[in-house]
Amino acid sequence: MVRRIETIGNEVIFSFEGQPVTARAGDSVAAALTAVGISHLRDSVVSGAARGVYCMMGACFDCLVEVNGVPNRQACMTEVRHGLDVRRQSGGVEVRS
Ligand code: FES
Repeated sequence: MVRRIETIGNEVIFSFEGQPVTARAGDSVAAALTAVGISHLRDSVVSGAARGVYCMMGACFDCLVEVNGVPNRQACMTEVRHGLDVRRQSGGVEVRS
């Protein structure tokens, strides 16, 4: 089990799947969700299996979520901000250029 070892920094409230999540300033979205026990961040494009954080350093892309309506955001590389709307990403997302 993962748990927060320090509670320094100002409180930041954002939402995941419409539910409020309390984080600390400076947390990544992935760290904040992990700290409250949320591990299912997206569904595999191939099998539909639940996926979540793995590397926590921007290399594996297993943590892709939708942030404020923008898909394919790496939760581990996105800093929490008050009012962010984070959604689980289901399957592949068409990228428009
Ligand atoms: S957990 Fe690997 S890129 Fe985010």
